[in-house]
Order: sequence, then C-alpha cells, then structure tokens
Amino acid sequence: MGASGAKIGSKAMSKGIPIQEPKGKLGVLLPGMGAVATTFIAGVEAVRRKLGLPIGSLTQMGTIRLGKRTEKRVPTIQQFVPLASLDDLVFGGWDIRDENCYETACHGGVLERHLLEQVRGFLEGLRPMPAVFDQNYVRRLNGTHVKQGQTKWELAQMLQEDIENFRTRTGVSRTVMVWCGSTEIFLKPQEVHQNLENFEGGLKENHPAIAPSMIYAYAALKMGVPFANGAPNLTVDIPALVELAKQNSLPIAGKDFKTGQTLMKTIIAPGLKARLIGLSGWFSTNILGNRDGEVLDDPESFKTKEESKLSVLEHILQPSLYPDLYKDFTHLVRINYYPPRGDNKEGWDNIDIFGWLGYPMQIKIDFLCRDSILAAPIVLDLVLFMDLAQRAGMRGIQEWLSFYFKSPMYAPAVYPEHDLFIQLMKLKNTLRYLRGEELITHLGLEYYD
Ligand SMILES: NC(=O)c1ccc[n+]([C@@H]2O[C@H](COP(=O)([O-])OP(=O)(O)OC[C@H]3O[C@@H](n4cnc5c(N)ncnc54)[C@H](O)[C@@H]3O)[C@@H](O)[C@H]2O)c1
Repeated sequence: MGASGAKIGSKAMSKGIPIQEPKGKLGVLLPGMGAVATTFIAGVEAVRRKLGLPIGSLTQMGTIRLGKRTEKRVPTIQQFVPLASLDDLVFGGWDIRDENCYETACHGGVLERHLLEQVRGFLEGLRPMPAVFDQNYVRRLNGTHVKQGQTKWELAQMLQEDIENFRTRTGVSRTVMVWCGSTEIFLKPQEVHQNLENFEGGLKENHPAIAPSMIYAYAALKMGVPFANGAPNLTVDIPALVELAKQNSLPIAGKDFKTGQTLMKTIIAPGLKARLIGLSGWFSTNILGNRDGEVLDDPESFKTKEESKLSVLEHILQPSLYPDLYKDFTHLVRINYYPPRGDNKEGWDNIDIFGWLGYPMQIKIDFLCRDSILAAPIVLDLVLFMDLAQRAGMRGIQEWLSFYFKSPMYAPAVYPEHDLFIQLMKLKNTLRYLRGEELITHLGLEYYD
C-alpha cells in the first residue's frame, strides 16, 4: 500500500481484519490462453508500459467512499486495500494449441497490430503448457497440445507438478488461477461431486462427470492456489471442491464473466424493478464470430451458457414477490456463430414492458460490443481480489465477487444476488469491513437533523 493509503487507512488499521502485505511476485495461471486471456495479459503489459489505461477495472480505477459524505474521504481502492501491483504479476497457463501469446492474440484479432507489436517480445515469451483436455467436453475443438494420462487422477498430478514447476521457475510468492478456457458441455451436479472422497474416487475411476476444468480446479486447490471460473461450466461450483477450498483455507469464485449482454441486463432490469415497471418479454440475440462463438455453436456447450444467461432475470425481478409485474414473462436467449464479426459481437435486446394501467411499451438495445475488451479487466480484478481474499484469510465461496459473474456462486441457504448495484455495494462493503471502516447504508438522516 502506498503512503497515502497508509494515512487513509490508519484509523481503521487497528480495527480491520489482519491482511498480509502483498510481498513478492503474484503468479497468474490461466487454463485456456485464448482471446480473453491474451487480451488481459497484453493489456496488463500495455498498462505497465503506459501505452493505455486499465479502463473497466475497479481495482485500478475505482474509488471507495469512507465515512459520512461530509468527511470527503474517497481514496482509490488501490490505496485503501493492499493489492498486488501490476508490476508484480507473472503469467503462465495451459492451452490445447501450442502457440505463443503473441500468435494467439494476432489470430484473436481483438487488439490492434500496432499495440501488439509494442508488447510482442513479452507475449512471445509466454507459451502455454500442454493442457488437460478431452473433446467429449468441448466438441468443436480438437487439441494436439495435450497431456496423456491413464486416469484423471494422474492428469491432476501432472497439473500439480506444472504448478510447482511454475512457482520454482518464476519465484512467485503466491499464485491465483482463473479458468479462461472454452465453455464445456452442460453437466448437472451428481453423486461424484457431492464430497471430496467421492470426487477423488471419481478421478481415479475416470468418472465421466468430472470435466477437465474440474481437474484444474482440483489441482489448484490441492496446491494452495485460489481458483476463479470465468466460464459457465460447473467446475469449482460443486460441494466436493467447496469442501477442498475450505479444508485448505482458499477462496473460490465463479461462474461466467459478466460482460456484454448480461451486463446490460443486470443494469437495466434492476432499474425497471425499482420503478415497478412490468415485463412481458425479453428477447436477446447475439451474433459473434470468435472461437468462443464457434464453441457455443455446439448445442451442448450452448446449453451451459444458456442456463447461465437465463437465471439472471428471474432472480432480479423476483416474480413470486411481484406476480402482477413479472409472472410468466418470456425470456429467450439466442447466440449465432457468424464468423465475419470476430470478437466484435452484436447483441440485440427487445424488451416488452408495461406501465400504468398495463399500457405496453418497448425498449430496443443494440450493443456493438467487444467481448474480450469487457472481460479483460474482470480477469485482472479477480486476480487481485482473490489474492487479497487469500491474504485476508477468507475461504470458500467469495460471494462479494458476484459483481463479476453471470451465475454467481452462493451459499445453499440463500439465492444468488444478480442486481449489479447490490453486488457493487456488497463488494465495497466487504472492502470496508476488511479495513474496519463503517459499512455504508445510504440512510443519511443525520445530514438533516
Ligand atoms: N469474452 C467474454 O466476454 C466472455 C464472457 C463470459 C465468459 N467467457 C468465457 O470465457 C472463456 C474464454 O473465452 P474466449 O473468448 O477467450 O474464448 P477462446 O476460444 O478464444 O479461448 C478459450 C481457449 O481455451 C482453450 N481450451 C479449451 N479447453 C481447454 C482445456 N481443457 N485446457 C486448456 N485450454 C483449453 C482453447 O483452445 C482456447 O484457446 C469461454 O468459456 C467463454 O465462454 C467469455
């Protein structure tokens, strides 16, 4: 933390949760080094070299109000909590394609060549390790750069060795893993996922309900590495891995980065609900032409994504509490793979709403979006916040990071919180809590006494 941060936090230091200082380098391991991962890595290097700004990142550009409005204490989040600095990030990862990050970023076509050329040497130095991959779980991909093992257990051991070798080679003091791999087929939680004993047995017996992403999550947690999941696959969202995370005192988070259309949905839906405006239907359609779009063209992978995207409105609008406004609305989501668009997706939303006396109205949104540009700052914030959580002794599901996910993981006793503004308040209040600052309720009656 910088000097100004120490000053701002000094009042709170004695009260807050003890947090270890971020000493040494922070390893960032990414299973799946495709468009999102390389846009994130190239972006961090570009920011380090002052070639661009980390726009969209709360950890880099956000502020946090402390105390009463009259106190005028608004430090940056970076000053307020001890986060690792961008200069301390060291990258590694796995992919089924044996090409360096410069080549992948060029093929991805997200960042412009003139920017990539300026960070070329750095990106060329990053080459993925051979992946744990099985085409049964991502039908549209065919991998050559993959590990061979007799059992899933053996593959998990190989990943643990990779993590150990990465640590030794780079000398990092801490490591975080974020799944940036393709969306796997839809899997329902089963007996083998219910506890760690079953899961480890399943690894040894090659149980078909254990997907590659789960093997990475298991290996990470065994090695003391916090794990976040950027795709909608179950992955770490199973009781067995929650158990392992708690056992090893590690934070976990997921699922599915909240970018593009769902981000818009969680901005607009809370606004409609706040004004008690009714909804009769929400039709969302997308065209995109990147590899993610190609993978999602497979119905099994699309099903995983669809489930993730559909749950959002139900939870925000709460039809059981507001049957006159939100009972039986139609919600459809379509994604079409359309190669000419590359990563520059177009998402249309048609929203049928109704107001006073039931009079109908419509909202149309046409979002010309850049998926990986919206996802990269999320990866960065998750890396830094998961590392913070780890140093603050927070373990298990990190619900305060729901802000970043389409399908946030949540405790069995509650429903997931999807409203972006509640999620942001929860995130900032968690930071205030960590530093022993008063939580902000926005009551504010005292200003009018
Ligand atoms: N871009 C966004 O806005 C966004 C938003 C939410 C979620 N996501 C999810 O993030 C993930 C990455 O998106 P992307 O646009 O970078 O896709 P991408 O296809 O460019 O990258 C995914 C990479 O994962 C690799 N991969 C697949 N299975 C693997 C395995 N088992 N081990 C290691 N590597 C593996 C692929 O070879 C590919 O390089 C996808 O699951 C996507 O659904 C992206």
